[in-house]
Amino acid sequence: MLESRSAAETSQIAKEFAKTLKPGDIVALSGDLGAGKTAFTKGVAEFFGIPADEVGSPTFTMVNQYDGDLTIYHFDAYRLENVGADSCDWMDDYFFGDGICLIEWAQNIKDVLPKGYIEVKLDKAPEKGDDYRAITIIN
Ligand SMILES: Nc1ncnc2c1ncn2[C@@H]1O[C@H](COP(=O)(O)OP(=O)(O)OP(=O)(O)O)[C@@H](O)[C@H]1O
Ligand SMILES: [Mg+2]
Repeated sequence: MLESRSAAETSQIAKEFAKTLKPGDIVALSGDLGAGKTAFTKGVAEFFGIPADEVGSPTFTMVNQYDGDLTIYHFDAYRLENVGADSCDWMDDYFFGDGICLIEWAQNIKDVLPKGYIEVKLDKAPEKGDDYRAITIIN
């Protein structure tokens, strides 16, 4: 478990983590509203030469594409709570492609993710302050 005390520190942790990624990897980001899933994605993007300000929130587009040293597909499954696996079939082209997929709210679509994904959990701990996040990476 890693500990972060600012959004910048979360991005830095993500940059370090990004060194381990390779084409085709799927990163399942779970954590509540404001946990830092997008902040983490920005750090990964920066590692691959994508400016952090290109990284938005694909809440309505469902997936954003960023082209850097490799391609990142940035998903937001926030609105996919309780949807059936069938309605996620379109995602397979991304999951089995050569880009890296980062999926916010991955807890909503666990059942449709191909096996072998990397899980990154971001958790607040209010007793440790507003800016504290525990980051757990399960490979
Ligand atoms: N240690 C920290 N790590 C990440 N973000 C932090 C931290 N401390 C404070 N923050 C703040 O928390 C917010 C995190 O926002 P971010 O958009 O990354 O969350 P999110 O998990 O993507 O939320 P959403 O579910 O709405 O997409 C930002 O306002 C950021 O400044
Ligand atoms: Mg977000």
